[in-house]
Amino acid sequence: MREGQTLPQHLCFMISESLEETPLKEKINYSKGIKVLYSFARKYKKNFLKAIILFIITTVIRLSGPLFIKQIIDVAIKNKDIKYLFIMTFGYLGINIVYFTLNYSSLILLIKNGQNLIYDLKNKIYSHILSLDIDYFSYNNPGKLAARVQSDTTSVYDIFTEISITIFVDIIIFITVFSIMAYHNLELTLLLIPVIISIIILITIFIKKSQKLFIDVRKKIAELTSFLSENLNFMSSIRVFSIEDKINEKLELANREKFLKTVAAEYMAILFFLTIMLFDPISKSVIFSYGGVKVLNSYMTIGTVVMFVLYVGQLFEPLFRFSEYVSTLQKSFAAVERVNQILSVKTNLIDGKKYLDKFDNEIRFSDVWMKYPSSDWILKGISFSLPKGKTVAIVGRTGGGKTTIANLIFRFYDYQKGKITIDGTDIKEINIKSLRKKIGLVQQDMYLFPASLKDNLRLMDLSIDEDKINYAIKTLELEEFYKKHKLDFFIMEKGANLSVGEKQIISITRTLVLDQEIIILDEATSNVDPYTERIITNAVKNVMKHKTMIVIAHRLSTIEKADFIAFLNEGKIVEFGNHKELMELKGCYYNFYRLQL
Ligand SMILES: Nc1ncnc2c1ncn2[C@@H]1O[C@H](COP(=O)(O)OP(=O)(O)OP(=O)(O)O)[C@@H](O)[C@H]1O
Ligand SMILES: [Mg+2]
Repeated sequence: MREGQTLPQHLCFMISESLEETPLKEKINYSKGIKVLYSFARKYKKNFLKAIILFIITTVIRLSGPLFIKQIIDVAIKNKDIKYLFIMTFGYLGINIVYFTLNYSSLILLIKNGQNLIYDLKNKIYSHILSLDIDYFSYNNPGKLAARVQSDTTSVYDIFTEISITIFVDIIIFITVFSIMAYHNLELTLLLIPVIISIIILITIFIKKSQKLFIDVRKKIAELTSFLSENLNFMSSIRVFSIEDKINEKLELANREKFLKTVAAEYMAILFFLTIMLFDPISKSVIFSYGGVKVLNSYMTIGTVVMFVLYVGQLFEPLFRFSEYVSTLQKSFAAVERVNQILSVKTNLIDGKKYLDKFDNEIRFSDVWMKYPSSDWILKGISFSLPKGKTVAIVGRTGGGKTTIANLIFRFYDYQKGKITIDGTDIKEINIKSLRKKIGLVQQDMYLFPASLKDNLRLMDLSIDEDKINYAIKTLELEEFYKKHKLDFFIMEKGANLSVGEKQIISITRTLVLDQEIIILDEATSNVDPYTERIITNAVKNVMKHKTMIVIAHRLSTIEKADFIAFLNEGKIVEFGNHKELMELKGCYYNFYRLQL
């Protein structure tokens, strides 16, 4: 292998067994990809152009090296001209120093450009993802999504730096070297053409044959990875059913298939690479035998032969590298396609313009109908009004649409018919951020951030001081709980070091710390011990005293204390009133209550 020449990408890939997202399909829309890339690069057009011009100059300077060597051998040494020898030697050294400096600056320029571009692109993707509907995340695994953005933007970065410049420089190298050689000796240059054509044919055959094999290997790796990650995710279930052996068998089989495919692909890559390497000595033999005879007959100088030998290596380099581009380009354009796909996902929610500064009167549902993108009608004409400071408990059978009501007020989803208003303003006209700032949502399984308990309570808002936190704790009568759970206690990811009950208590406290005026509480159904149960019930009772609340209630104690109870059945409110009224009605709620007791 010549100096500076690297193993083809295919081989590197085989050996490193890259697990990143790889293209599994053969058809890639390159023209669309280029359009998308252009839209990413538009802002940096000028700088990229500068870098390209610098690269052209650098390449041409580097390629003039063998011309100096020819002068040293043919003129300086032959004529024993020491002065000319030193001039040419220094000239040779000089152009290499200039080459080094220019190359350094152009590379720095290119990398800086690329990094800026990727920085912008990542910001754009992240803020786009953050703006997407909640539904998008049900269909796209967030972990995979994050990994994909990371690896795809790296591929896009490669296009703007390494790949584009290598392709560009290689074309210049090929044309320049070929022209210099043809200029010095057309016959010898023409003799090398069959060698060049053979290499091109071989590369084409290799690309065609290998593509299928490489895609197969990548598919197998993807299969294996997802099988592994799915199963590791459910390790506790695997243990429960003691099916480790069965899983192991499956894994072994998949691994074996991957192994066989990989070996076949690797054999082929090695054979191809070694064959290609043979062309280097073949072409040099052509130069030496043809040039040697010419030198002996004084038709050619030794300097020209040496120059040709030096140039022929540089002529082949672009050809060798060509086989690498194919897979890298394919991979990168697949990444561009995926990035574009993410950026093209539209949100269905249209943000409103009115800011919700204060909440004075009531929340009102007027004949609200709603269905999810993939469902039938879930809510069928919900109407009720909740005055400020009051609490409504929504009760009913599972799947009745209780959580859906909470989703609507919080604008995770939009309703299709009817109207939800806050103080008479349609919530679709309210700026979503200002709406969510006023509303506290305590979900069944609340997410807590890996941070201190204090920062979780104030949601990283450092302007909220400890006094405010202590005031909230006092209002909820949770002093004892927070004596045991200190504010500097560090909460692990997903609140793993807390119980469900503790998480609920913390989430409830948070709504008061953040001073949210409307609280939506989706009570957890899971059983907690009677002691915790009492703490939660008491805290909820205290929230009711101070805030406007919508409670999706499972605890009878909560339900009884609510000002209103809405009994939901199959998307309709079938009974509405307070506990006493509904009990007297002896209807659905009455039966539900008796059953619960
Ligand atoms: N994202 C979604 N896409 C499609 N259908 C959904 C979606 N979320 C909920 N549903 C459906 O909507 C219906 C009502 O669901 P919802 O979560 O509102 O019920 P719920 O009353 O809160 O039930 P539970 O008491 O079990 O929490 C269910 O039939 C459910 O299958
Ligand atoms: Mg629910």
